[in-house]
Amino acid sequence: MAGWEKAASSEVQEGEVLAADAGGKRVCLANVDGEIYAFADNCSHRDFPLSHGELDTDDCTITCEWHGARFDIRTGAVCGPPATPIPVYPCKVEGDDILVDVSS
Ligand code: FES
Repeated sequence: MAGWEKAASSEVQEGEVLAADAGGKRVCLANVDGEIYAFADNCSHRDFPLSHGELDTDDCTITCEWHGARFDIRTGAVCGPPATPIPVYPCKVEGDDILVDVSS
């Protein structure tokens, strides 16, 4: 069952990432060409915040700032080592709010 949690009330600018809390989980929100993506704000390698990483809007990936692991933020798949896949979450925009379903 979906459990939508409010993750941010401020807008995430295009091409930017924002660390947020959704239902007690650290999530990272990213805006790629106006589309919002939500994924775990923890690199699966050493738990570094992915919100500190570099977003590539051309291929929809984020690169961890610590050791350079790269993830597809649409699927959580690893595109570059060293790491394992990360959780991605459904998200939607309602008015000024970004809602994330962290229940799945
Ligand atoms: S902590 Fe992210 S690549 Fe090592």
